[in-house]
Amino acid sequence: MDLSFDDRVAIITGAGGALGRSHALELARRGAKVVVNDLGGSVHGEGGAPAAAQQVVDEIVASGGEAVANFDSVTNPQSIVQSALDAFGRVDILVNNAGILRDKAFHNMSVEDIDAVLDVHLRGAMALTQLAFKLMREQRYGRIINTTSASGLFGNFGQANYGAAKAGLFGLTRVLAQEGARANIFVNAVAPLARSRMTEGLLGDLTDLLDPKSVTAVVTYLAHESCELNGYVYSVAGGRVARIFMAETRGIVLPSLTPEAVRDNFEAINDLDGYFVPGSLTEALEAVQQALKEQL
Ligand SMILES: NC(=O)c1ccc[n+]([C@@H]2O[C@H](COP(=O)([O-])OP(=O)(O)OC[C@H]3O[C@@H](n4cnc5c(N)ncnc54)[C@H](O)[C@@H]3O)[C@@H](O)[C@H]2O)c1
Repeated sequence: MDLSFDDRVAIITGAGGALGRSHALELARRGAKVVVNDLGGSVHGEGGAPAAAQQVVDEIVASGGEAVANFDSVTNPQSIVQSALDAFGRVDILVNNAGILRDKAFHNMSVEDIDAVLDVHLRGAMALTQLAFKLMREQRYGRIINTTSASGLFGNFGQANYGAAKAGLFGLTRVLAQEGARANIFVNAVAPLARSRMTEGLLGDLTDLLDPKSVTAVVTYLAHESCELNGYVYSVAGGRVARIFMAETRGIVLPSLTPEAVRDNFEAINDLDGYFVPGSLTEALEAVQQALKEQL
């Protein structure tokens, strides 16, 4: 049976751009009432224009769907939640997708370049999520999808600001997955690769294969009430979907750890054989406890 979103209300930030627009159109096509948020600035976060969000709303309405536009920055999250409450009375789904780039080698990066990127990707998303999360707790239902990036999870030259913000979203996803679970709020993330103005000129002959729609397919599933995944991160690029996770190696346990012992054992410390994917801090601590006890 197709996944439908009748009576669900979704906020999608940065929904005037490539990925956000695609998510908004698809969720609306499947019956969701959508708040299309986008301040319509440049890829570097300068300026703003209502056309970006309005065009997507017009497209949705022309196809018989329901949507309203919000032209504010995610750094003004109250306005975005208020748009959802005024138009549709609730918030069931939040897709944190808005983003900008201010790429530079770290030694040349200004404080403003750092703050602008952290403000949109991390602080804005976090503040908006907190408002939505409170409403979701009250109604005991919610689905939140964050947009992280391989840049932050694996590292990429010239993106210290962006990578730090995107890795921050990974931490937020993991923590909220645990805090929200009992209230039926599930929080996951995607690390996309898709053609957009952000990746213009970077994708080479993969450009045609990297349709934002494939990222939307994963986001749409994660946004559905039948999806019970919680705290997961998926790399999505064209038709490829893979899980990204944080893991620990088995490591070593020595009765007395000295710098020389670390030097002499680094291969064993780094050995990926038998690595472990802790589901929480508690599970990571249990593994430590077990390893330490085994040496007694
Ligand atoms: N395209 C990729 O391959 C790729 C890879 C990794 C991560 N991402 C992430 O995916 C998300 C979407 O990117 P995209 O590729 O569609 O780029 P995009 O530039 O087309 O879309 C981003 C949208 O966010 C909007 N936006 C920027 N600042 C905002 C703010 N303060 N408030 C509200 N809206 C704001 C922009 O106006 C734009 O429409 C971003 O978070 C990006 O970092 C994209």
